[in-house]
Amino acid sequence: MMSQEQNDLITRIGPGRAAGDVLRRYWMPAALTKELEANRPVIPVRLLGENLALFRDGDSGKLGLVARNCPHRGADMCYGRVENGGIRCVFHGWLYGADGQCLEQPGEPADSTMHERLKIKSYPVVEKNGIVWAYMGPGEAPPFPAFDCFVAPDSHVFAFKGLWECNWLQALEVGIDPVHASFLHRFLEDEDTKDSYGKQFRSAAADTNVPLTQLLRENPAPELKVEETEYGLRIIALRDLPDGRRHVRVTNQVFPCAIHIPMSNEMTITQWHVPIDDETCYWYAMFTSFGEPVDKQKMWDQRVKEHTLPDYRPKRNKSNEYGFDPVEQANTTYTGMGMDINVHDQWACESMGPIQDRTDEHLATSDAAIVRYRRMLRSAIKKLADNEGGLPMDVTAEQAAQITGPVALDAIGPQQDWESVWLDRDAARREASPWKAAS
Ligand code: FES
Ligand SMILES: [Fe+2]
Repeated sequence: MMSQEQNDLITRIGPGRAAGDVLRRYWMPAALTKELEANRPVIPVRLLGENLALFRDGDSGKLGLVARNCPHRGADMCYGRVENGGIRCVFHGWLYGADGQCLEQPGEPADSTMHERLKIKSYPVVEKNGIVWAYMGPGEAPPFPAFDCFVAPDSHVFAFKGLWECNWLQALEVGIDPVHASFLHRFLEDEDTKDSYGKQFRSAAADTNVPLTQLLRENPAPELKVEETEYGLRIIALRDLPDGRRHVRVTNQVFPCAIHIPMSNEMTITQWHVPIDDETCYWYAMFTSFGEPVDKQKMWDQRVKEHTLPDYRPKRNKSNEYGFDPVEQANTTYTGMGMDINVHDQWACESMGPIQDRTDEHLATSDAAIVRYRRMLRSAIKKLADNEGGLPMDVTAEQAAQITGPVALDAIGPQQDWESVWLDRDAARREASPWKAAS
């Protein structure tokens, strides 16, 4: 349990808030590339409690991310015209470059120099494998680590997002809690694993013919091993099988607000939980394939039919009780909320309330990774406050290029050899990868 003050410290992310300052030291997903592909080249972005306008210049392809309200008299820049590499407010035609500099004030006297002294808030943005990333912190933006999801070719990565109506931290914490998968995502009957493409927990475990759903259901209390790494945490869940072998599931926390987990034997998911504000967040997922190119159309169709655009709000949500069906709960699924595990996670997080009341929680052994993560976050908050540096992945470009992986997979092997089993399996997968995934 913690005090209200401690809970506020690690959850609130607006400008000047302690956890917000930590998140601002990292690149954050701001939009899907796809969102800028419609015929409107400007979209609203609300990120870390700030209202922004993201635009793409049609001629150069360059991106800009600026304050949403024009500093003249506050009109909405999301209705602006993208011109000359910048964005022009349509109220009085003032033009701002992607760096926020006001370039023109066409309604002012010709000899006015006021624009030279006027700058709108702006943040650096880059595109990587389907996601537009923003850096909202001070100083130089940090280098990107050489994670698989960033270095894989575009053909092998698919990105999607979804809206959850809760604080980002409880959304992140469900992803570093390996035990919930045995309950929340339990299916009382297993589907044919041949139909598992693009879905989580539906493939066979490792190289067996045991559906992962069965394995998780039959082994609900894994032994957890949590270790700190250069990028965050590695979380290993060990489940012993009746035949004497051991199932090893390797997942990760990527500091500050992402998880990196296996999706199937060929694909991983790297998923950021990004605050829109204190009480809503988006998950942004990058699905990375070590094998065949990703079937993007299929992945898109599977997901878009469960969401309403342009907000990417799940169709199953609090307003319709997540589609809860007690008959289904009695016969088919643990939750009675359908087969989409994203909905289960969404319910778990949203049902805690907008910001989980951590003054009244009772953490247990299975929450080991959550405890470690909170310690890391508090340590980062303190380091920033003390101006110490040394946050996770606060490294040079050369060092960032050495931060690869991480490893996320399911493996099965003899109990004694479990440590080499997952490393060997990962090495083999990388070796066979058509894009030469580094280990
Ligand atoms: S309010 Fe934007 S130019 Fe006047
Ligand atoms: Fe989950």
